[in-house]
Amino acid sequence: MILLTGGAGYIGSHVAVALLDAGLDVVVLDNLSNSSPASLRRVQSICGRPVAFRQVDIRDEEAVYDALKTYGVTAVIHLAGLKAVGESNQQPLNYYDNNVLGSMRLLSAMQRAAVKTIVFSSSATVYGAPSYLPLNEEHALAPTNPYGRTKLFIEEMLRDLHAADGDWRIGVLRYFNPVGAHESGYIGENPLGIPNNLLPFIAQVAVGRREKLTVWGCDYPTPDGTGVRDFVHVCDLAAGHLRILKHLKAPGLLTVNLGTGEGSSVLQVIQTFEAVSGRAVPYEMGERRNGDVAVCYADPILAKNVMGWKSTRSLMQMCADHWRWQSRNPTGYSA
Ligand SMILES: NC(=O)c1ccc[n+]([C@@H]2O[C@H](COP(=O)([O-])OP(=O)(O)OC[C@H]3O[C@@H](n4cnc5c(N)ncnc54)[C@H](O)[C@@H]3O)[C@@H](O)[C@H]2O)c1
Repeated sequence: MILLTGGAGYIGSHVAVALLDAGLDVVVLDNLSNSSPASLRRVQSICGRPVAFRQVDIRDEEAVYDALKTYGVTAVIHLAGLKAVGESNQQPLNYYDNNVLGSMRLLSAMQRAAVKTIVFSSSATVYGAPSYLPLNEEHALAPTNPYGRTKLFIEEMLRDLHAADGDWRIGVLRYFNPVGAHESGYIGENPLGIPNNLLPFIAQVAVGRREKLTVWGCDYPTPDGTGVRDFVHVCDLAAGHLRILKHLKAPGLLTVNLGTGEGSSVLQVIQTFEAVSGRAVPYEMGERRNGDVAVCYADPILAKNVMGWKSTRSLMQMCADHWRWQSRNPTGYSA
């Protein structure tokens, strides 16, 4: 039985599908602070199999311990966390409490229950401003905001835990920019409030929920002047979790990037989205945002060499799948 923290959220619901499709049993712990239980009902209907669910905050160590014991959990995939960079600048203590303290409590419960296999959702934000590209796992770690620092601190905690007790099996996945949705169109990203990320914003403009997009910065030293990022399909990302679980059959600690290795500019994404959706995405150019870098993309070779993972889906497919989800669920799970 795999315990999935944050499994009702965007990436978690896709990881749940990948695990169930692979024949594994799943129990989700989520406090629903940024998600809806409807996503798990959809997961069940995609897979035709049940998902156990407990509405639990990972900071509640006893509740986590109880779930680990009750369900006979053998491994944890830990996605629960707050993830908005801008919000983390305004509410740093909330981010340290939820993400860092939450992970400490989770790890303590795991240690007590003798469950010593964990896959952690880290982020490319741990690298900070790239000093070279593509970003490999050896790049210095210097996040530039509290959100990124919570990810770095949790990574450090995992490294210390592994150094202290070699029985642990730890996978750290540094996601680049997850986008897209399951091809069924049943599950997808469902931001509450104003979307922080590019694709959900574009999709909400295309579906008519927002008037226009602001492109933050058009004078970067890139081919079209807009920022370049490494967008990776959420189903490719989900497959990476299965791969690393297989790799963690023996004790050890593995840290890998999950990205495509290719950068796409904001304008390229808008144009691709317009082409696959047949909808116009009006946009205006804005100033650069503080802390944004011009270009960021992964070196994904380690994930390929060590665990045989490689992204397979194109930007066009990412946009097509994102649009299928958004157009069939214009108001997300509230429909
Ligand atoms: N989406 C991205 O761009 C991105 C990029 C890199 C890393 N990540 C990381 O991947 C993970 C999943 O991201 P997502 O995009 O699916 O976000 P999400 O907000 O959709 O999912 C996170 C889930 O965690 C739950 N949660 C938050 N705090 C909790 C707590 N204390 N106890 C229990 N549940 C809690 C939320 O209710 C939500 O369902 C996060 O850790 C995020 O930092 C995301």
